[in-house]
Amino acid sequence: MKNIFRAVKISDRVYWVGAIDWTIRDFHGYTTRRGSSYNAYLVLADKITLIDTVKAPFYEEMMSRIASVVDPRKIRHVISNHSEMDHSGCLPAVMDFISPEKVFTSIMGMKALQEHFHMSREIIPLKDGDSLSLGNLNLSFMETRMLHWPDSMFTYLPEEKLLFSQDAFGMHLASLERFDDEVDPDILDFEAATYYANIILPYSPLVGKLLDRVEAAGLNINIIAPDHGPIWRKDLAGILGKYRRWATRTQDFKAVVVYATMWHSTEMMAKAIGEGLAAGGAKVKLMSMNQFHRSDVVYEMLDAGAIAVGSPTLNNHILPQMADILTYLKGLKPTNLLGAVFGSYGWSGESARELEGFLSEIGADKVGETIKVRYVPDADALMKCYSLGSLLASKLWEKLQS
Ligand code: FEO
Repeated sequence: MKNIFRAVKISDRVYWVGAIDWTIRDFHGYTTRRGSSYNAYLVLADKITLIDTVKAPFYEEMMSRIASVVDPRKIRHVISNHSEMDHSGCLPAVMDFISPEKVFTSIMGMKALQEHFHMSREIIPLKDGDSLSLGNLNLSFMETRMLHWPDSMFTYLPEEKLLFSQDAFGMHLASLERFDDEVDPDILDFEAATYYANIILPYSPLVGKLLDRVEAAGLNINIIAPDHGPIWRKDLAGILGKYRRWATRTQDFKAVVVYATMWHSTEMMAKAIGEGLAAGGAKVKLMSMNQFHRSDVVYEMLDAGAIAVGSPTLNNHILPQMADILTYLKGLKPTNLLGAVFGSYGWSGESARELEGFLSEIGADKVGETIKVRYVPDADALMKCYSLGSLLASKLWEKLQS
């Protein structure tokens, strides 16, 4: 056997022919400690069709997997569900090599692919609700604009009850186990939630509507095949239910204390706030940006109802580690939060104003007075922090009951 890369059969006439990226650890700012996969799918219809491709450096791996079941030059159609480079990066090379009869994408995808690759070749746009005959099998298409790019769409294969969902329902997980029932459920839960928090969260208002549309369309789905991570063939209800919950921002009685520290004064304050929160009954996560990665904070924020942010003042501003996480959070738009502000300073103390501005920008309701401590907190200052934590817990509890 010359070819080490094999396709994986996922239904009667569909094969996974993607690539596994064991070493990627950064996905534009999202830490991917378990690597990732770029999933492409081969539909062995009368007109053999490739759905999505892979990141450019993985071209050979994908082509080898395709070649393990069929000569790639027999592929007649290519469908691009999503133009982002991790799925379209090797599309030009694929088109050069196999010369498919037709390449299809969404209306927005056509524009995006042209602007990525500046190709002369025609790409055929598909509208929401369009269908395409592959001879003995059929595909239908659903535009999913802004989930998570303007070009994104789903492709449905009714004969196999199979939904190709591009980034939706995916996760960054490098694994030779290709199905959800082959992966540790705790890893699935963690990586799916981390993916949602870091990629899908800003578009949550659209997720519920999309799930409604999928239900209203009456699609009979036995398999969900996303563009990253395992293929869902067992617990479809589980991942769909989680998306519904995350999209509605369902919150636990939980607060995250996010801070950075220079000489541990702000850290002492963070600990006192955390103790107050816990005394008030809230589940608490203390996350120092001196140690934690921004992706981990966003994961914890997914089901939290409150955030306390703290920083000392350095050169008239917050610490750069805090600027990093606040910028990231602003982009991901966590909504419906209560917030609190604290921090130490030496002589000017501008950090508090920046942190208050952050809460305002994400629309969080600020609880209590900002606590600013000059240099090092004494027992009274720490008790004030404790009380702020208790107040935040009680306000969050009231809100969750209302
Ligand atoms: Fe996996 Fe939006 O690309």
